[in-house]
Amino acid sequence: DGDVYKYYADGEWKKSSSGKAVAIINPTTRKTQYKVQACTQVEVNKVMESAKTAQKSWAKTPLWKRAELLHKAAAILKEHRAPVAECLVKEIAKPAKDAVTEVVRSGDLVSYCAEEGVRILGEGKFLVSDSFPGNERTKYCLTSKIPLGVVLAIPPFNYPVNLAVSKIAPALIAGNSLVLKPPTQGAVSALHMVHCFHLAGFPKGLISCVTGKGSEIGDFLTMHPGVNCISFTGGDTGIAISKKAGMIPLQMELGGKDACIVLEDADLDLVAANIIKGGFSYSGQRCTAVKVVLVMESVADVLVEKVKAKVAKLTVGAPEDDCDITPVVSESSANFIEGLVKDAKEKGATFCQLYKRDGNLIWPLLLDNVRPDMRIAWEEPFGPVLPVIRINSIEEGIHHCNASNFGLQGCVFTKDVNKAILISDAMETGTVQINSAPARGPDHFPFQGLKDSGIGSQGITNSIHMMTKIKSTVINLP
Ligand code: G3H
Repeated sequence: DGDVYKYYADGEWKKSSSGKAVAIINPTTRKTQYKVQACTQVEVNKVMESAKTAQKSWAKTPLWKRAELLHKAAAILKEHRAPVAECLVKEIAKPAKDAVTEVVRSGDLVSYCAEEGVRILGEGKFLVSDSFPGNERTKYCLTSKIPLGVVLAIPPFNYPVNLAVSKIAPALIAGNSLVLKPPTQGAVSALHMVHCFHLAGFPKGLISCVTGKGSEIGDFLTMHPGVNCISFTGGDTGIAISKKAGMIPLQMELGGKDACIVLEDADLDLVAANIIKGGFSYSGQRCTAVKVVLVMESVADVLVEKVKAKVAKLTVGAPEDDCDITPVVSESSANFIEGLVKDAKEKGATFCQLYKRDGNLIWPLLLDNVRPDMRIAWEEPFGPVLPVIRINSIEEGIHHCNASNFGLQGCVFTKDVNKAILISDAMETGTVQINSAPARGPDHFPFQGLKDSGIGSQGITNSIHMMTKIKSTVINLP
């Protein structure tokens, strides 16, 4: 069946024995765009076996050779930016320019990771025993970093390429093998990206990509005894995975409700520009999107007017036309967003624009005078709807931010650097941005969430560390 994209195992493109396919719905047309194989548990078992075997010799492959292959894959990926980006447009309705940016950023990430890897992994430690009480200088300890084994990577729909390579590259440079389970929306983009790694010539079995229904292979993968590490980005599913996974390192990034605290002395034009970028880029479908604005009452009217004026200029439509606001990923997502909007309406929020929806396309909406009894004050819409809560003190803003079950990032706008630092210290989030919207990148910066936003820290450097283990050899002198 030529219409169904094959999955990747043992260095080959294969059809699943299930004979079944999973449909990928184009969010814009709401019609089936692509189909991928519905892999079976038996196929997952085979992939795990090959991954285990391939890892053994990969770990012995010199580090510089591993880096060389990654550089090659990065270059091929960047050359293939157009076809990969086209899939992103069709599968997840990412605006055309942003789709290209995602692919180029991914190539850069892979190269940077190769460079960082040779530095980090090229060094070990040497310790002597006589610093600890009671010891003579008779023990020399040599440490180095060794791979964990098989890493399972599960990226989300919003960055099916970038958040896949952010797991693949550190795993591979560190000597691990990698099994990728892409999101259904984004699976074909991910398969194209994997093809670039295939063309680079990695050993067979080292990278595999299995597609299929979460209900059939999701738990089976995450609970598989052959998996030695899971790196997951996505929603609540991550909490369930954490509870079920075995005694293996986990890297989890599970969303956020990033607050934007605006003080009276802030540059309101800068704030408005960042609210637009932070709240509405990729139609708000980023874990690091600004998801609630907490603005001091005295400047709220002016700020809301400035943001309103900018919202009016956002283009709304198809991702092919590079519109700012494009259809959200699925009908169920659009319905969920609509539920939050209705709740806010019933409870008296001020609508700065008329609520408008056509299929999965939701027009950008700013909701003013949101109060804590509204769902939108706490829940993540993952859509182009942004609540504004007016506050009367900095403490009120910090309190709202910290009352959230999420703790990914936050931002504060003020010209007073002392206040900014104090607020940053008080905010219970993994990162606080001063005078800019939240963002994961640059991709070597640490990226982590507190509370329900996740465990572990990502970013190139931290991921390499996380996907390795310390091994020591102690030389005992007579
Ligand atoms: O959706 C979650 C991503 O990690 C956010 O990445 O800040 O580059 O959009 P971004």
